[in-house]
Formats: sequence, structure tokens, C-alpha cells
Amino acid sequence: MEQYAIKGGNPLVGEVEIGGAKNAALPIIAASVMTDDTVYIDNIPDVRDTQVLLKAMENIGVFVKHENRHKVTINGANIHSLVVDDEYIRKIRASYYLIGALLGKYKHAEVALPGGCDIGCRAIDQHIKGFRALGTEVYIEHGLIKTRAKRLVGSHIYMDIVSVGATINVMMAAVLAEGRTIIENAAKEPHVVDLANFLNSMGAEIKGAGTDVIRIRGVQKLHGSDYTIIPDQIEAGTFMFAAAVTKGDIVVKNVIPKHLESISAKLTEIGCELKEADDCIRVVSSKPLVHTHVKTLPYPGFPTDMQPQITVALALSRGTSIVTESIFENRFKYVDELIKMGANIKVEGGDTAIIDGVPKYSGATLAAPDLRAGAALVLAALAAEGLSVVEDIHYIARGYEDFHLKLQNLGAQIEVVNSERELQRFKLKVG
Ligand code: EPZ
Repeated sequence: MEQYAIKGGNPLVGEVEIGGAKNAALPIIAASVMTDDTVYIDNIPDVRDTQVLLKAMENIGVFVKHENRHKVTINGANIHSLVVDDEYIRKIRASYYLIGALLGKYKHAEVALPGGCDIGCRAIDQHIKGFRALGTEVYIEHGLIKTRAKRLVGSHIYMDIVSVGATINVMMAAVLAEGRTIIENAAKEPHVVDLANFLNSMGAEIKGAGTDVIRIRGVQKLHGSDYTIIPDQIEAGTFMFAAAVTKGDIVVKNVIPKHLESISAKLTEIGCELKEADDCIRVVSSKPLVHTHVKTLPYPGFPTDMQPQITVALALSRGTSIVTESIFENRFKYVDELIKMGANIKVEGGDTAIIDGVPKYSGATLAAPDLRAGAALVLAALAAEGLSVVEDIHYIARGYEDFHLKLQNLGAQIEVVNSERELQRFKLKVG
């Protein structure tokens, strides 16, 4: 099994180019089958989740051509099956975006229940509520969500909780429903806005994405588009925290600073210096880090997908910090791994981490429990004294393209190793 071997202690210095946003790419790729015309999508991150989704779409008859590593041509005119179920698709959360897309276009879709990172119960009741409000029959059988409608009819839907996935799924179906739909208490994440912009570029009529009320006027059909996905807010944030914890100096390039405001604000609070330009942010960490408190919230609050990364930094910051996770119920599993490195963290009630900062981490063998926690453990290993091994790095490959190569470019001593022999070789090399 592949692992990262890491020798920590180097400040990371240099520039890193941020790729397209995974969580925007997934719904945009799914939505591209909603027209029979050809769609061109650029800036798709080459990560496992997007690869799996594209494969699953090919399996139901979607034409997919990779123009280059980040650009695909998609044509959904010859879909031969509305049942999406294979061993891969069950592993990714975003498979359920095919429900909204296919239901909107064909009024029928059956898709395997979503998997995804194990970060707590990941209910889909709000998706189902939204589909039903549009006139869809929905039931769950043999591990599939089955949806069918005679007609989709616009509706006024109040989401009981703010959900990125439910907002996106209902928005996709509503675009091709008859009449108007209003989604209240909608998610406001940049990827929700990016999907709305993409759908509008295909002829949809969506207003208000980015606010908590989205208004959609249904149209009869959508047409082709040529679209470029926004940069990945979480990949950018992860590299910004890499600078913080390694006492480094990193310019993250090709970002939208507005999307990173909550992350930038916390980095400034803990003692980093930030300089923003139009499409890049420089993070310099030259002073000792200091404690703060943070609570994860829907956008524009501090993202749950950055919670492990900030915890890694706060565990190295002077004083006591409190991190409260308000989105998912099981997102502190990586804390046991940080404790192996010398961190002083207590998790109370499953949603609160009380952190007493320590001056340093020491290297250890760590298991990545999920995507973002996996990336955060890599940051901890880069900050630590000595050698670490991060196992289960397939999680990290779900959402970070060339993670170790980008880190190497910043001066990190990190390699993928496949055997004890390769690990020994790495140890000899780094001394
Ligand atoms: C998306 O997941 C992202 N995934 C997650 O990123 C991200 O952590 C999350 O949004 C929050 O920002 C993708 O975009 C593919 P939610 P999603 O629906 O859509 C509850 C990553 O690391 N809920 O906003 O599944 C749910 O249990 C991943 O890139 C219901 O109760 O998140 C959770 O507590 C991990 N009923 C909360 O809402 C529902 O019907 C937020 O979930 C739907 C959700």
C-alpha cells in the first residue's frame, strides 16, 4: 500500500498553483449530461473523485473525452441507462448529483446511495424533501435511491438545515421543472454559485445563488457550454496552513481571495502575515503562533473542510484554543494521531476540541482517516521533528492533485513509498 514518507522540519517556501475546485467540478460534471449538446469543461482537478464520476458516467453511455489533464468534452445525448450503480460510484459522495441531473432531464434516475468520507452521519433527507416537493416519487431499495416523476413542477422549498448537497441537487432538478422554484435557507458556498453560473451558461434561469434564497425559473431544455471551474478554496487553504505550521513563506497562486476570507482571518489572528493580490495570497509565518477559537459554519463561516488543518496549527500555538465542529459529528478522528506526535488535545462531546499548544511535534506513523484529516496529518508531519509515515493516502488522492509533488516544489521532504525497502531508502536519503 502506498504511504507518504516525510522528514519534517523544513520551512516550506515558494509558490504553488492551485487547481480547480473538486466540490464545484463534481456537480458541474454531473450537470453536463443535462443537455444533448456537447459541453466543454476546463480546470477539472485530476483527483480520484472526479475520475470515478466521469467513469460512472461513461458506464451509462455518456461520451467523455479527455482533451488534456484538466479539460474534458462531455456529451450526454446517448445515455442508455438511468441506473447508476458500480463498485466505484458507491464510494463517492458526489454520485448523488447524478440524481438531480438525470431526474431533471429524464424525470427518472436510480443511483447507488452515496459513500464519501466517514465524517459522521450524512443524511439525505433534505435532498429527498426537495425532490418530493418538485413532484417526484422517491424511495430507497436495494441500496439505490430511486426517483421518478411524471412531471417536475416548481415549488417553494424551505431547507431545514443548510446543505451544500441538497441545495445543488434540488437546484439541478428544478432547472428543468415547469414553473418557478424557490429554495430558502440555501447553501451559499462558492461551489454552489459556480454550479449556478454553469447551469445559467447552459440556458438555465437561476438567480440568487450565493445568498440564502435561490430563485429558479424552469426552462424546457439546456444547451451546450464551454466553462472553466473556479479555483479550489480548500486546496488553497491547506497550503496556506502549510506555511503557518512549517514557519514558511508560500504564495498560493490562482485563487479567489474573497473565497478565502475566513481562512485568511484566522491565519492573521494566530500570527501569520498575509499579503493579498488579485489572484494570489502570500502567507508568511515568522513569529510564534498564538491561540484562537474557531467554530466551523456554512459559508461564509470557517469551513469544516479546513477544521483538521487549523487544529494542527493551533496544537502548535501558544495558549489554549477551542475548535468547535458544528457541521459533521465525527470529524475529530485524526486527533488520536496528533496525540502520537505529542499534541495536547482533548475532544469533548464529539464536537469540541480543547487544545493546549505544545512547542513541537515529533514524527510518528499516522493513519489518514479521511481526505482533509489526511492532508492535515501531512502538514503535521512536515512541521514535526524527524520522520513520519502517513498511511492510507488514497483518501488524500480523492481531493488533492499531485499533493506531494506540490509540497516537494516548496522544499518539503516527502515521497510516496510502496514498501519497507523504499522507506529505508528514503530514510538514508534524508539522513
Ligand atoms: C459537501 O458535503 C462537501 N462534499 C463536503 O466536502 C463538505 O464538508 C460539506 O459539503 C460541507 O461544506 C462535496 O461537495 C462533494 P452538506 P455534503 O449536505 O453536501 C447534514 C470534502 O472534504 N445533512 O452540506 O454532503 C449533514 O449530515 C468533503 O471535500 C442533513 O441532515 O454536506 C451534515 O451534518 C467532505 N440532511 C450537514 O447537513 C441532508 O439531506 C452538512 O452537509 C443533507 C445534509
